[in-house]
Amino acid sequence: MAENRQIQPATGKLGILTPGMGAVSSTFMAGVIAIRAGLRLPIGSTTQMGHIRLGKRTEDRQPLIKNFLPLTDLENIEFGGWDIFDVSCYEACITCGVLEKDLLAQIRPELEAIRPMKAVFDQHYVKKLTGTHVKKGTKMELAEAVMQDMVDFKKAKKCERLVMVWCGSTEIYLKRTAVHETIASFEQGLRDDSPDIPPSMIYAYAAIKSGVPYANGAPNLGPDVPALEQLAKEKGVGICGKDFKTGQTLIKTVLAPGFKARQLGVAGWFSTNILGNRDGEVLDDPESFKSKEETKLGVLDAILQPKLYPDLYGNLFHKVRINYYPPRGDNKEGWDNIDIFGWCGRPMQIKVDFLCRDSILAAPLVLDLALLLDLGMRAGMPGGIQEWLSFYFKSPVVPVGLYAEHDLFIQQTKLKNTMRWIMGEDVITHLGQDYEE
Ligand SMILES: NC(=O)c1ccc[n+]([C@@H]2O[C@H](COP(=O)([O-])OP(=O)(O)OC[C@H]3O[C@@H](n4cnc5c(N)ncnc54)[C@H](O)[C@@H]3O)[C@@H](O)[C@H]2O)c1
Repeated sequence: MAENRQIQPATGKLGILTPGMGAVSSTFMAGVIAIRAGLRLPIGSTTQMGHIRLGKRTEDRQPLIKNFLPLTDLENIEFGGWDIFDVSCYEACITCGVLEKDLLAQIRPELEAIRPMKAVFDQHYVKKLTGTHVKKGTKMELAEAVMQDMVDFKKAKKCERLVMVWCGSTEIYLKRTAVHETIASFEQGLRDDSPDIPPSMIYAYAAIKSGVPYANGAPNLGPDVPALEQLAKEKGVGICGKDFKTGQTLIKTVLAPGFKARQLGVAGWFSTNILGNRDGEVLDDPESFKSKEETKLGVLDAILQPKLYPDLYGNLFHKVRINYYPPRGDNKEGWDNIDIFGWCGRPMQIKVDFLCRDSILAAPLVLDLALLLDLGMRAGMPGGIQEWLSFYFKSPVVPVGLYAEHDLFIQQTKLKNTMRWIMGEDVITHLGQDYEE
């Protein structure tokens, strides 16, 4: 049923803060600045380019999402963040080489003005990186310093609201432990410098504690532990993750639902990548790769449901590899060999060779997540995990006891129906008009 929600208007400025100001973050910031200057289009952004159908098909109401939802205007965004390398956003863009130099030259002064704050970093969690632009102190002191950074940033840039999106490197694979169980045990862990609390969790804690929503673009745990989820609920703050769904996994979650919809079997799915950016270098470390492997592997099982369909997917062999290959830079190549079978068990093969640009695919997701998390806060959405944003993630975080939805089209339906619900429009069931009330 449609209901009217009170939504605070998007007055004033929104600060988007990214821990990690490497390829994804700098491509996102430079892209928004180029779009504001009328130099480029926000391609890949659902909030900026997408339309949404409202009401019955006969009504022919299909506004742009950005005209339907009271989102923050791109003109009213301020950018900030933290990194272990003290280089401006312009230098970061040049280093990662994603956007064209002549475009960057046109927006250079704005990019040069964006400089990272000192990071919370510990090489134990990202073995391949060493940095000097790093804060010192106990983990609790570091969390407090990040909170102070946010207060200072908000004041300096005259922002009304903040959002944090983790664009930092992938940390080593960590499991939940007793430290992560309750807010009290977590805060004690911060005071005791617990090794179970990596930097990504320190930023997440600082954000949630400050009433700032947090999205996790990497596969590490981040806010995905009971203590931080509880804190988010108590503070009424939205959290979501994990791991931006781009490149190979995006294509996988487009193809796999199609096979299942037509009851085609899958015997094997071999995915391999070459990429040469810093992300690729970090993922060359087996402990960081383990975090990534977990999020990449989970997708097929969740979509294909081998327990329900043992004849079709019970023996599926799924392998994922990432190979660091410097000459390619950010231009990843992802190959998939898919062995499928059809009527009477006859085998067939599909080969996908996706020559993509990693950060070009990820940047619009940072924008959408920041704008939608901010909208959720202003619309008074309940705090905690924002499942409606699963559309953007490889490994969507869901409340305990629920399974994650990986099918891109179910995720999209959920996203758009939540948008309709927020705005007091009827959700769309796709029943034919003879059956609709
Ligand atoms: N590009 C994509 O398509 C994509 C998709 C899914 C996930 N991701 C994830 O997004 C993240 C960013 O990717 P990228 O290509 O920009 O990588 P990148 O290496 O270019 O940038 C990451 C930046 O984070 C910084 N950093 C590391 N630890 C930090 C900390 N504790 N605090 C502050 N800064 C820190 C690094 O110095 C680096 O500048 C990675 O975790 C990656 O796995 C990217």
